[in-house]
Amino acid sequence: MARHLITSALPYINGIKHLGNMVGSMLPADVYSRYLRQRGHDVLYICATDEHGTPAELAAKEQGLPVAEFCAQAHDAQKAVYDGFALAFDYFGRSSSPENREITQHFARKLNENGFIEERAIRQVYSPADGRFLPDRYVEGTCPHCGYDKARGDQCENCTRVLDPTDLINPRSAISGSTDLEVRETKHLFLLQSKLQHEVEQWVARHEADWPQLASSIARKWLNEGLHDRAITRDLDWGVPVPADTWPELAAEGKVFYVWFDAPIEYIGATKEWADQDPENRDWKAWWYDADETVRYTEFMAKDNVPFHTVMFPATELGVREPWKKVDYVKAFNWLTYYGGKFSTSQKRGVFTDQALDILPADYWRYFLIANAPESDDSSFTWEHFTATVNKDLADTLGNFVNRVLSFSKKRFGEEVPAGGEPGEAEARLGEEIARLLAEYEEQMEALQFRKAAAALRALWSAGNSYLEEKAPWLEIKTNKEGAALTLRTAMNLIHLYAVVSEPFIPATAKTMREAFSLADDTASWVSRDAAKALTSVPAGTPFTVPPVLFAKLTDEDLAAYKERFGGEEA
Ligand code: MF3
Ligand code: ZN
Repeated sequence: MARHLITSALPYINGIKHLGNMVGSMLPADVYSRYLRQRGHDVLYICATDEHGTPAELAAKEQGLPVAEFCAQAHDAQKAVYDGFALAFDYFGRSSSPENREITQHFARKLNENGFIEERAIRQVYSPADGRFLPDRYVEGTCPHCGYDKARGDQCENCTRVLDPTDLINPRSAISGSTDLEVRETKHLFLLQSKLQHEVEQWVARHEADWPQLASSIARKWLNEGLHDRAITRDLDWGVPVPADTWPELAAEGKVFYVWFDAPIEYIGATKEWADQDPENRDWKAWWYDADETVRYTEFMAKDNVPFHTVMFPATELGVREPWKKVDYVKAFNWLTYYGGKFSTSQKRGVFTDQALDILPADYWRYFLIANAPESDDSSFTWEHFTATVNKDLADTLGNFVNRVLSFSKKRFGEEVPAGGEPGEAEARLGEEIARLLAEYEEQMEALQFRKAAAALRALWSAGNSYLEEKAPWLEIKTNKEGAALTLRTAMNLIHLYAVVSEPFIPATAKTMREAFSLADDTASWVSRDAAKALTSVPAGTPFTVPPVLFAKLTDEDLAAYKERFGGEEA
């Protein structure tokens, strides 16, 4: 038994996430956590909403809500969707929590004591009409290079050139449209990452061999370009305040930490939120202050998040000079596209997680997304692929097998697992096949190769179908009733096995399959996955019920309706 700390990138507070966000962070983290729990490990899966920053402030303003209230509501709305997806977080916190404030301020003080923070004056665009400094991307104007008139102050979308807001011709506030802009001097805290470059390099060098290539190559690229000192404070209302004991002047001016400074610290903050709910029994520091390296820490994220997790947050943790747990394994994902184009929150293109649950239960999505996770490359969501996968793998290979076996047995032998017959050559072959596939499944899960694990799971389901076709109990029963009983009993044992091994992927369906059998010793058989016992763990005489159809087949009309509602045109 090992201790596994698992986190998935914290979703931004504003907006419900789309399927691409889900498959690149929270869902695989949940599948992995569930798998490890089943294997008897001590698992802590932590996530939270990432709540600070200008976009949250503006979204709140648009809805006419105080930002704290906006975030509280948006947090609950996201949490409801994740519950709907059956994401079994040990805790789903909020980066605006008092715990995160305390730990973020502690990190900043320590970094300062250790000489990694410096106060610098910079010149920033201020908008009197908005009553605020404008982040670079909220200054709009005409690009000096290509003349595009909606260029943003950080970059021109048209010619992709990186800009400074003061480069723009006819600059205006993207918030109010006001052209009355000034450049004001303002003081900020800078994290001297350049001083930590060497240490981060050494740390990455010690770990990258274990990471997927996607993660190590991005980390290398950033290190090769060199770590730059960066401003870690902002002139905003909504954020973790700069601590007044250390920087009285900046605190009095109302400076807060930049969202990317406090967000990763919330992995720790949320763990403390979890512990604060039951302080007698939960020890957050045992997970994070891990001097003897007894915890294995795995992070899940999409590729745009990799630099923050492999380079910048480790730099922060190193600079604090305390034994904070650093990531052991970075599971990074490419993009899930929608018909080859971008899923886009702002353009409302693609499928959002709440809409997905409106259409079909979570297990349909969980299975499809993990089986097609963008691991080695981007992968494309299409309704054609989705409906075909649901019909073939879930409805035919798994669902139909379960219903066919149970209803036929009930009809011919009643409501108990039938007795009779001795396992023969076909069962021996099946046993070997199952043992081989179980080993493959486990190997891929341990390696966090989700597509391959899903393929092994699908192969396990198929093995049952092949066995059933070969033995054909509906014919067998005419001449050899004992033989048919053996076949059906063996197939029912497969159903039980499927309930166990499918649980990380399709937890609700797994529960239904499991509950078809009234077994006395529930927990033991649930955890045990001994291949040798796989075909005999449900004994003759066990009462069972026939569950309703597990997965509905999706029709051509369904497909047409989905494409009509969401659009399916190639990008
Ligand atoms: N909110 C960020 C995003 O969606 C991820 C933050 S991850 C954290 O890209 F580590 F910073 F929390
Ligand atoms: Zn341009």
